[in-house]
Amino acid sequence: MCGIVGYVGSATPGQRPLEVLVEGLRRLEYRGYDSAGVAVVTPEGLVSAKKAGKLSNLLEELDARHLPAGTAGIGHTRWATHGGPTDANAHPHLADGGRLALIHNGIIENFHSLKRELAETGVTFHSETDTEVVAHLLARAYDDAENLTEAMRATVTRLEGAFTLLAIHADQPGEVVGARRNSPLVIGLGVGENFLGSDVSAFIAQTREAMEMGQDQIVTITASEVHVIDADGHAVEPKRYTVDWDAAVAVKGGFSTFMDKEIHDQPQAVADTLLGRAGEDGRLELDEMRISEAVLRSVDKIIVIACGTAAYAGHVAKYAIEHWCRIPVEVELAHEFRYRDPVLTEKTLVVAISQSGETMDTIMAVRHAREQGAKVLAIVNTHGSTIPRESDAVLYTHAGPEVAVASTKAFLAQITACYLLGLYLAQLRGNKFPDEIREDLAQLHAMPEKIQRVVDNEEQVRAVARSMKDERTVLFLGRHVGFPVALEGALKLKELAYIHAEGFAAGELKHGPIALIEEGQPVFVIVPSPRGRDALHAKVISNIQEVRARGARTLVIAEDGDDAVVPFADEIFRIPQTPTLLAPLVSVVPLQIFASALATAKGLDVDQPRNLAKSVTVE
Ligand code: M6R
Repeated sequence: MCGIVGYVGSATPGQRPLEVLVEGLRRLEYRGYDSAGVAVVTPEGLVSAKKAGKLSNLLEELDARHLPAGTAGIGHTRWATHGGPTDANAHPHLADGGRLALIHNGIIENFHSLKRELAETGVTFHSETDTEVVAHLLARAYDDAENLTEAMRATVTRLEGAFTLLAIHADQPGEVVGARRNSPLVIGLGVGENFLGSDVSAFIAQTREAMEMGQDQIVTITASEVHVIDADGHAVEPKRYTVDWDAAVAVKGGFSTFMDKEIHDQPQAVADTLLGRAGEDGRLELDEMRISEAVLRSVDKIIVIACGTAAYAGHVAKYAIEHWCRIPVEVELAHEFRYRDPVLTEKTLVVAISQSGETMDTIMAVRHAREQGAKVLAIVNTHGSTIPRESDAVLYTHAGPEVAVASTKAFLAQITACYLLGLYLAQLRGNKFPDEIREDLAQLHAMPEKIQRVVDNEEQVRAVARSMKDERTVLFLGRHVGFPVALEGALKLKELAYIHAEGFAAGELKHGPIALIEEGQPVFVIVPSPRGRDALHAKVISNIQEVRARGARTLVIAEDGDDAVVPFADEIFRIPQTPTLLAPLVSVVPLQIFASALATAKGLDVDQPRNLAKSVTVE
């Protein structure tokens, strides 16, 4: 969950290391914002600074206390696991009399026994973290090893759990050494300088040339070279790639929050995800396919695994894929999946959906599925991340970097990718004729313009949100694909505005939740198209009447021209006419805007809500 950046540049000491680290931390802060810290190798030895709270606290500290010029450094932004968010628990952690500094993302599961072992040899600890234990282990290994790289290789053999580690030592002013297991680390290639980061945003302001690091590998960067070895010390040639977005994409671009910018990015995110999917013969293609067509034709069950918002995209996929392909689809939270001993065969296709590609629960579920013989297809936004690398096939969403902790454009891109997957399978298995697929694709290509129309109507939603800033609970109702939209609307409100919010399948109302309705209770209702299935629309209209009759204030999301809702709606947010299955791409947008506006009205931090981090890289 933490953000990590490392840098090595010119042998002549300068301010560049600190500048690169601070810029990297700015872009990584979305990964955790409980504390931040840096350490730099200088001719006078190793210097460091760290502060609890947001990065701005560290920046104030650095303004007040100028660090001397250096040659290499490491920086960290923390999401606390072991030990609260204090200055002492912030990274870097020092060892070897302050000559070695270490930063860490992940959890060292055997740290208690290692700490006891070190304490018995007289080591004193200054924090409650598992990381400090590794710093001392590394210092001890450094005494025996030829260099920091070998010391790191020896140290990681003692560790259990998940980690990305970066270390510097005052004796080796021209290098940073890193290691990874079950936690991300990528390499950035510069000219006369090199970088390490939790993801490419750590160095995207400096270079777009990057390399992937594999599991249990150790990397040493100098200003001119990158050396990667495996756990046995053998040299490894990492895969090189060019990042397909640049630094300008990950800035607010005139919006007051990243989330608002990302809501406005959504038409483009959907358009980009649809771009170039059909080959010259008009047939759909995925990005990376290591599953034979014969195996895909034999698939008799699909299980979607994901967490949070990505799981709600999976719920939408269920409706579309079952309808188009007649394959049963289950949707399961990734962290529940492997503990229930799911029935998986070689005919099961597991679809893993993730924005970051680094969600640990989803990674572990992917591994479990593959161990059981299932094929895994990843729908992921972040190139070079772990989930696509460990999957049999990949369909990338092209939402661009999503910085706000609350997912918006990645969600729409995930839903779009799910539709593409459904149409791809329908094409392969002959469930649809080519002209039907062309028609569905044309409907999809019309969606960015429709999403834009909903975004353009944001002021109506914002005004209502502002008037509701003192509400204590908000309910969301939907049927069919409107149900996952209701769940997503509730999640957005919980995570951004810290308001109790719950999404229900509208049909479930009379089975209990209707007891919650009292005078003035706000209830959002996502109304399906009246031009789709009659019964579906009629049933939701009945549900609106039922809650309104009991005093609810109804906030209705309905298609243009749907007049049946008018008598029962206190507020109507209009969406363009859209085929039933594609409606989530437009109906969720007012709910995203609502949550952002209500959180803003309450004076809350929209991009970095309390207790959260963008990527949940620990289980
Ligand atoms: O990176 P992922 O898509 O795997 O992340 C999954 C969830 O952690 C994520 O969607 C989370 O629920 C968001 N904060 C929701 O806005």
